[in-house]
Amino acid sequence: MITIKNRASIAKMHEAGQRLAHIFQELPSRLMPGISTLDIDSWISLEIKKNHLVSKMLGYSGYGHVSCISINDEVVHGVPHKVKCLSDGDLVKIDVCVAYKGYCADMARSFFVGQTSDHTAKRLVEITALSLDKGIEQARAGNRLGDVSAAIGHTIESAGFGIVRDFAGHGIGKRMHEDPEVLNYGIPGKGPLLQVGMAFAIEPMVTVGHYDVYITEDNWTVKTTDKSLAAHVEDTVVITQDGPLVITRIDNK
Ligand code: MF3
Ligand code: CO
Repeated sequence: MITIKNRASIAKMHEAGQRLAHIFQELPSRLMPGISTLDIDSWISLEIKKNHLVSKMLGYSGYGHVSCISINDEVVHGVPHKVKCLSDGDLVKIDVCVAYKGYCADMARSFFVGQTSDHTAKRLVEITALSLDKGIEQARAGNRLGDVSAAIGHTIESAGFGIVRDFAGHGIGKRMHEDPEVLNYGIPGKGPLLQVGMAFAIEPMVTVGHYDVYITEDNWTVKTTDKSLAAHVEDTVVITQDGPLVITRIDNK
């Protein structure tokens, strides 16, 4: 069942998203070579507390951190660790889900540590961000979920990159994961009808090489089988009368 949120619920999700987006805004300056992914997670944890948010990841299926931090050929669900340190040129994906007064916002971004001269890597990140934008554009009342999925998938495949199929976006509200699954590929005009008050976490996961992935021995970290580079971005979007409201991007007032 896809839940419909009322104005009060949407306002809380929006506040969660704005606070989370402000935390992300401060992240790039912390991603210097040598810092461990556990240090980054600890900083995010402090910011979550300062902003009176609650982590939705900590304790989820026994997960022990407030963020997932995935480097290079790690796609998603990288577990922060003190011996895992960033190097110049690394492609780092950071994923954080929080709640404000019981309502969630889920967000992820791909960052480079310092500079990269790898044109394919840069293009990968650009296309991944573009596919998210194209998906969001379709998140309108009267459209079908397949319109969102197809827009994402078309953008990625036209660029010649791989669409990870084993993981997907999701509905979101009081819980981090709600119905439906938001696939990153699909058929226009298919799937549930989109209505005002629905909310989705849309999160394309894109590879330079083959889309096949596997879960490593830590039972969380997802890596590409062919060791190719992967990107991941995620925004939480609410369907409103005026179109898609991206709650995890800072409002321009
Ligand atoms: N935020 C992730 C998602 O988009 C959830 C990661 S799993 C967790 O679905 F256990 F780490 F939270
Ligand atoms: Co998510």
